[in-house]
Amino acid sequence: MKNLGFWHELKKPIVGLSPMDGVTDYPYRHIQKKYGHPDVVYTEFATVEGFCRGVEKVLDDFLYDEAQRPIVAQIYGTTPKFFRETATALCQLGFDGIDINMGCPAKSVAHSGAGAALILTPKLAQQILKATKAGVGDWQNGKTVRDCSHITQKLTQEIERRHQQLPKKYQQHDRPIPVTVKTRVGFDIKVIQNWIKTLLEIEPVAIAIHGRTLKQGYGGTADWEEIGKAVQTAKGSNTMIFGNGDVHSRQQALEKVKQYSVDGVLIGRSTFGNPWVFQDQEVDIHTSAGVAVEHSQFFEDIFKHRENYRFLPMRKHLGWYIKGIPNATDIRVQLVQADSAQQVHDILKSHQLIS
Ligand SMILES: Cc1cc2nc3c(=O)[nH]c(=O)nc-3n(C[C@H](O)[C@H](O)[C@H](O)COP(=O)(O)O)c2cc1C
Repeated sequence: MKNLGFWHELKKPIVGLSPMDGVTDYPYRHIQKKYGHPDVVYTEFATVEGFCRGVEKVLDDFLYDEAQRPIVAQIYGTTPKFFRETATALCQLGFDGIDINMGCPAKSVAHSGAGAALILTPKLAQQILKATKAGVGDWQNGKTVRDCSHITQKLTQEIERRHQQLPKKYQQHDRPIPVTVKTRVGFDIKVIQNWIKTLLEIEPVAIAIHGRTLKQGYGGTADWEEIGKAVQTAKGSNTMIFGNGDVHSRQQALEKVKQYSVDGVLIGRSTFGNPWVFQDQEVDIHTSAGVAVEHSQFFEDIFKHRENYRFLPMRKHLGWYIKGIPNATDIRVQLVQADSAQQVHDILKSHQLIS
C-alpha cells in the first residue's frame, strides 16, 4: 500500500476534528488547532462537480495555514473523473491527505447519489475511490492542474499562486498523499461489515465511521458496537478505522479506543465553542469570551475583503462560546446581531466578560 503518508506517523490513538460543513472553515480550524491541538483537522466537504465547473467559492473551503497541518481536504460528488482532477489540484494545493465523503445525509447531497447515498452504489463508490487515488498518482507522476481539462483557467491560476507560496517540501511531487473515506454504518439499515469489505478492496489508508445510518440523520445514538464490527472486519488489512459519534471528551475518546480497538476518534459537535475538548481542559467564561473575540477577528481578517462579505456565518460560534454562562439570553440576543469583531468585543466587555 503506497501513500500511507502522515497518518502512520501520528502517535496513536489519533483524536481529530471531524469535518463539518458550515463550521470547520479556515478560521475555525485555526482556533481549534491553536487551543485544542487535535491530531488532525479536515476541511468542510467541497463538491468536485462545483470545483470542476469553476465555482470559485469552493476554493475558500481549501484555505488553510501551515499551523493546521496535518490537514485533510474532504470532497464529495458522484463523478469519478471530477474526483480525479480535484485530487490532483488538492495535491498541488499542498494538502496532507484527501478524504472522500460517503456519509453526508443531507438531501441536497444524498439525492444526487453522493455522500451516504454511495453506500447504495458500491461499484460507483469504488470507482470514486480509485479515481481519487489515480488523481494523486497523476500528481506524483508529474501532472498538474494545467493537465486537468475540466479545471478552469481562473482556478488554475489561483491554485498555482497558492502552490508557489507553499514551503518547498509541500511543492514536491513525490510526497505521499493518503486517500481516506468517511462514512456511516449504513443507508437505512446497518450494513457496515459488507460495506467496509467493499471499501477495503480499494485499500483506503483509513476509514472513519460515524455510528449512525443515513436514515438516522443525527437522531438516536451512535452505535459503537457497529464500529467495533468494522474494526474486526478490517483486521489484517492496512486500513485504519476511526470511530465517530457522540464523543464529548478526550477521556471518552480514549475509552472508545480501548473498548472498540479503533485507531482513533473524530470529534465533531462537542468542539463547538470548545477547542479545549481535545485536552479535557476546563476554561472559565472569560477565556472563552476572549477566544470568541479572537475567532471573530480572524474570521474578519480572512474574509472581509471578499465581495458579498458577511459576518453572519460567524454569529453561531458566538452563541457556542458563551453557552456555559447562566442567564445568557441578553448577551446572546446582542451577539446574534453583531456585525464585526469590534462589536463582539464591545458586547462582551459591556457584560464584563473580557477586560
Ligand atoms: C453542522 C454539521 C456539518 C457536518 N458536515 C460534515 C461534512 O462536511 N463532512 C462530513 O464528513 N461530516 C459532516 N458532518 C458529520 C460530522 O463530521 C460527524 O460525523 C457527526 O457530527 C457525528 O460526530 P459528533 O457526534 O462528534 O458530532 C457534519 C455534522 C454537523 C453537525
